[in-house]
Amino acid sequence: MDLTITMTKHLKPKPDDSELNFGTIFTDHMFNLDYHPDQRWHNARIEPYHCIEMDPATMVLHYGQAIFEGLKAFKTSSGGIQLFRPMENIRRMNRSAHALCMKQMDENLFLESLKALIRIEKDWVPGAPGTSLYIRPTCIAMDPFLGVRSSYTFRFFIILSPVGAYYSEGFNPIKIWVTKDHVRAVRGGLGEAKTPGNYAASLYAAQKAHEAGYTQVLWLDGVELKYVEEVGSMNIFFVINDEIITPILNGSILPGITRDSVIELGKKWGMKVTERKISIDEIIEAHSSRKLQEIFGTGTAAVVSPVGELKYDDKIITVGDGQAGPVAHKFFDAITDIQYGRSKDPFGWIVPV
Ligand code: COI
Repeated sequence: MDLTITMTKHLKPKPDDSELNFGTIFTDHMFNLDYHPDQRWHNARIEPYHCIEMDPATMVLHYGQAIFEGLKAFKTSSGGIQLFRPMENIRRMNRSAHALCMKQMDENLFLESLKALIRIEKDWVPGAPGTSLYIRPTCIAMDPFLGVRSSYTFRFFIILSPVGAYYSEGFNPIKIWVTKDHVRAVRGGLGEAKTPGNYAASLYAAQKAHEAGYTQVLWLDGVELKYVEEVGSMNIFFVINDEIITPILNGSILPGITRDSVIELGKKWGMKVTERKISIDEIIEAHSSRKLQEIFGTGTAAVVSPVGELKYDDKIITVGDGQAGPVAHKFFDAITDIQYGRSKDPFGWIVPV
């Protein structure tokens, strides 16, 4: 497919790396692609970053038929730019498309379009430690129609945002609130798809958690409110008695790429890594019997993020000594060393731009 490139005449000022937080600054250009049943995916173009004008009846605004991804580009010490496991994001986006009756993309077209956009925006990739270029591919339903059905037309776009740490705590442990009053997703629903509705479903509980002084919500399963699922912006891991445990993917949990990387690294290092159902009662019991050593979350935005406190009902579980634990540290260092090209990549996870 031909790619048309239109360069902006008005370059934005670039932020200082030290000022970067998450998701507030966007680069000069974006990638756009349209789907129409007659033309299939067509009109691939890189254009100046701009607002998307749409009919107020556009289906995505009414019924939320939309999917997205999050991945990052990193600058290496030699000035190269590299992506971390982009094909995993591309495949997951295609699985999300299937779940929401949207059109899948050719994997190579997706990757090549992304690389072309990043090459144009190469000066936007920050270089300071902990910074990266966050990539947000998104696809939305575009038919102007108020009946409930799948749209026939779609817009796919990619925007880029230079970022620092996702949490203001940085690598310091965050506090998490375990809710029994709300659920994020249920089996048979859309929990494993990266779709805005899952995030909309998390807002009310997240707001209550914030008001109580907690950074995020830990979701329990939507059927029994017993088994731990995920945090919404992260998957979750527990270190109990030297075993690393994470909830097994059951259809309502997002299959995180950092989650998968931790599992693969842990197994390679000979650690005991188990994917299984784990109940909140088991965590409370492990804490009481002093077997709970660490809790940490994983995600593209959050990387590896230690959890220092869980609140469940009237119980407060304090993990470790308020500092990031050694296991979280080891995974954080290993993953970021590979991402920034500081260490060899034995898994073939890195794709140069
Ligand atoms: C990510 O980790 O990339 C996410 O999409 C989580 C959140 C920022 C929505």
